[in-house]
Amino acid sequence: MKIFIDTADLDEIKEACSWGVVDGATTNPSLIKRAVDKRGGSVTMESYIREILETVPGPVSLEVIATDAEGMIEQARLLYRKFSPYGEVVVKIPVNPSLDESGRQDFDGLKAIRTLKSEGIPTNATLIMTPEQALLAAKAGASYASPFAGRVDDYIRKRMGMRAGVDFQKGDYFDHRLVKALVRMKLRSLIGKADSISEVYSSKDVREILSTTQDNGIYSGVDLVAKILRIYRNYGYKTQVIAASIRNARQVREVAEVGVDIATLPFKVIKEMVRHPKTLEGMRLFTEDVVPSYKRLFE
Ligand code: E4P
Repeated sequence: MKIFIDTADLDEIKEACSWGVVDGATTNPSLIKRAVDKRGGSVTMESYIREILETVPGPVSLEVIATDAEGMIEQARLLYRKFSPYGEVVVKIPVNPSLDESGRQDFDGLKAIRTLKSEGIPTNATLIMTPEQALLAAKAGASYASPFAGRVDDYIRKRMGMRAGVDFQKGDYFDHRLVKALVRMKLRSLIGKADSISEVYSSKDVREILSTTQDNGIYSGVDLVAKILRIYRNYGYKTQVIAASIRNARQVREVAEVGVDIATLPFKVIKEMVRHPKTLEGMRLFTEDVVPSYKRLFE
């Protein structure tokens, strides 16, 4: 599995690249804003992005900001032309760039991906929340598809009535297996009370439990990633899946277990991956046990 760093913060990018574990990077307008704010708003964007590209030893996703096909295509060409001399540019295109419910621009992202593919400009279809969106992105010719695992977990948690920042924090692990087990227990008790299976099937309580603990058959962000991978493999799509919106080390393990091509990780999550209390304890014990004759070997 490749690891991309999900940040526009050059300090973080440089540090993580020095560890030898970074294969690429992903940015978005919010990550760029965070990086700019950290530098007190004083960033010369062109040279800043250039430096990111020169630092990262692989693809760097840069996002367009237009929301119509023509605008996105123009911006993608500009980003590609301007920054390709400094590294491997991939243009991030929202799978559905609509800003309202009208549906007028629902297909503009796909249109842009298709045109850019024909021009040889690689794209990363972003903001993917369903396997259906990922299927369309692959058909349109996206080089990468980015399912947002953490945001899907958040969505399901909120449907279950959990409050962000109170009942769960951004980096918390979402234990969808526990949720499934709880649902099963609850359903079993409801089935026990019913006179017939059709009563259970049409029961409002049952339907509510089933619809709030999942998103139309998606049980978690990792489940979303797994389903997309299965669909791509069924039909041999070449689009690579980037597990995005990753919030903790356990999610990284789970997307690796389902065989994702790439996981794009915040700096904090990469740091979390290398830590364990027993590793720390072991290091302390080994250090205490060094005998002088062994130490002298290194002098
Ligand atoms: C993906 O490419 C995005 O940059 C990112 O993973 C979003 O993560 P978030 O949901 O933590 O903002």
